[in-house]
Amino acid sequence: MLRKLLIGTALATSFAFSAHAADVKEVQMLHWWTSGGEAAALNVLKQDLAKEGYAWKDVPVAGGGGDAAMTALKAMVAAGNYPTASQMLGYTVLDYAAAGVMGDLTETAKKEGWDKSVPAALQKFSVYDGKWVAAPVNVHSVNWLWINKAVMDKIGGTEPKTFDDFVALLDKAKAAGVTPLALGGQNWQEATMFDSVVLSTGGPEFYKKAMNDLDEESLKSDTMKKSFDNLAKLVTYVDPNFSGRDWNLATAMVIKGDALVQVMGDWAKGEFHAANKTPGTDFLCYRFPGTDGSVIYNSDMFGMFNVPEDRKAAQVALATATLSKSFQSAFNVVKGSVPARTDVPDTDFDACGKKGIADLKKANEGGTLFGSLAQGYGAPPAVANAYKDVVSKFVHGQIKTSDEAVTELVKAIDDAK
Ligand code: BGC
Repeated sequence: MLRKLLIGTALATSFAFSAHAADVKEVQMLHWWTSGGEAAALNVLKQDLAKEGYAWKDVPVAGGGGDAAMTALKAMVAAGNYPTASQMLGYTVLDYAAAGVMGDLTETAKKEGWDKSVPAALQKFSVYDGKWVAAPVNVHSVNWLWINKAVMDKIGGTEPKTFDDFVALLDKAKAAGVTPLALGGQNWQEATMFDSVVLSTGGPEFYKKAMNDLDEESLKSDTMKKSFDNLAKLVTYVDPNFSGRDWNLATAMVIKGDALVQVMGDWAKGEFHAANKTPGTDFLCYRFPGTDGSVIYNSDMFGMFNVPEDRKAAQVALATATLSKSFQSAFNVVKGSVPARTDVPDTDFDACGKKGIADLKKANEGGTLFGSLAQGYGAPPAVANAYKDVVSKFVHGQIKTSDEAVTELVKAIDDAK
């Protein structure tokens, strides 16, 4: 008891005399940005903070989609060992906020005018109970095709506008002896691709009902069965070694011309950028056939933890840097994503980035901006994990028919809710 009191007194004294001098000049960040393109983007942030005198303490946990990172974060938080911030996807931010472990960046948000510049769709996940608990870094979108231009020219392909066009294009690549579809057989990649397949098969209204509202009639409908059948069709175009492959290795297959196309979020463009490839010349970005006009989004957020007083100045510096207009442009140009603010010019972005920014604006205004279920913006993590699991079992043949798939999906989502 006495010992506790003494320590308490000593701490109080040191805060009273030297609150600022004792500030920890370090940002500790947990994230899953370990690919070439991702590391290059993160460097932009490290450099910005270094200019302000903050050291960077990196906590990288590899694994696209962040499942492994989120397991590591849970252990850190349970041990009371909070990072300054962690990369997080939508519903995960809300979970940690509800658990009462997040900090409060509202003062910074007010000073910087985040309420006015950050789109409402993101504020739903970065503001909890009226308080800013996370700083949105970007907006990614998953309904894209990434195509090797030389291979496309070689097979005489053109932009596929419908799912049937897409199948015809994949057939052309197959006939030419090129792997048509580069896929990494990991559950989050398969589910990320399936998000687009559902939107293409059922249209915007259907996507929203099934994947955001989790409407049971939609989840077990013939349209959902058809979506699974379409997914099965796509899987016939992947190479035999796809199981377990990392997403960036699948992107590398397209960059090198070993495969025609990857269906992936626009973090794939970060890999093309890191390899010095130019859209229109080396590669092509098209919306997933049949989804033009809609955007399935996710956004990386830096969830801000309730760190001790002497680490709060570093957290404010991180949050301020993250949402500055210059950082939002510089970082997202490299990352492949688009700004999490509506007032950042598209000047420095390449053609795909410019399209991404314009598409987001249009979808936001037209009511066709939807959260990605695979990427943490459709439903809470337990539901998203159930979804990824069912999709992956279907892709790998443990669930054999689309009939069975919808039954399993409804059951798994129900159990997870
Ligand atoms: C994140 C991206 C990241 C990708 C692959 C997604 O969940 O939003 O920032 O690049 O996973 O690691």
